[in-house]
Amino acid sequence: MELKDKKVIITGISKGIGKELTLALLAKGAHVAGLGQNQPDYFHPNLLFIKTDIRHNDQVENAFKEVLSGWNNELHILINNAGLGYFGKLEDLPLEQYHEMMEVNVNGVFYACRLALPVMKKAQYGHIITLSSVAGLEAYPEVSGYCATKFAVKAMMESLYQEVRYDKIKVTCVYPGSVKTDFFRNSPGIKPHDFMLMPEDVATAMVQILETPDNYHVVNYEVRPLRPKGEK
Ligand SMILES: NC(=O)c1ccc[n+]([C@@H]2O[C@H](COP(=O)([O-])OP(=O)(O)OC[C@H]3O[C@@H](n4cnc5c(N)ncnc54)[C@H](OP(=O)(O)O)[C@@H]3O)[C@@H](O)[C@H]2O)c1
Repeated sequence: MELKDKKVIITGISKGIGKELTLALLAKGAHVAGLGQNQPDYFHPNLLFIKTDIRHNDQVENAFKEVLSGWNNELHILINNAGLGYFGKLEDLPLEQYHEMMEVNVNGVFYACRLALPVMKKAQYGHIITLSSVAGLEAYPEVSGYCATKFAVKAMMESLYQEVRYDKIKVTCVYPGSVKTDFFRNSPGIKPHDFMLMPEDVATAMVQILETPDNYHVVNYEVRPLRPKGEK
């Protein structure tokens, strides 16, 4: 897909992977609507931010309505990026944290997809990319809640791509290992470091996935730091 003038909705653009991807897409000439809780600290004439807590379907619906009316009901790309993790032994994980992860990482993806799909189906064109994680491919101790959310979106996206492929809509699920972002703020045991993946490199890979030819469908994209623990 040629990205110039394409209309893109991204959830969570204030920082990390979502911010880098937004900047990369704007540099390619795309129009981006960012749905998130915090206003980004950067500006661009083709960037629209709509304050949205994606845990609430009514807020997501209102945001889509506003964006789509401004874009003449066009939407080519949806990036389900917003997500967060809380860690700890299952019986120690506060229920509010478990619910927040489920609501953002799983429900928010479902809410956004179900609003994007009718528009994309009508146009018979589109691409949805969802951020899972290597924690959506394999489980780790003290990551039970987060892993459950990322396995869930893997299942959701694998089901969805088979539902919509003949509507010429691509569905890609991305599984990164550790990325150097603010994600680890709730993880006292892990400090971001330079042997992690860089968010701008994950963003570049996602741009390349979006730019593939129409009949070339990247279904799953797993990427890990080569030396996650540094030099041997
Ligand atoms: N960093 C990693 O190691 C890693 C590895 C694999 C997968 N991932 C996944 O990659 C995605 C991006 O993570 P990141 O590393 O870039 O983390 P990050 O720097 O913490 O950014 C997370 C983004 O999610 C948004 N968000 C959180 N709660 C939200 C809510 N209720 N409503 C709307 N937006 C919300 C935030 O936007 P606001 O500030 O506006 O709330 C923020 O922009 C997540 O899905 C994460 O699970 C990360």
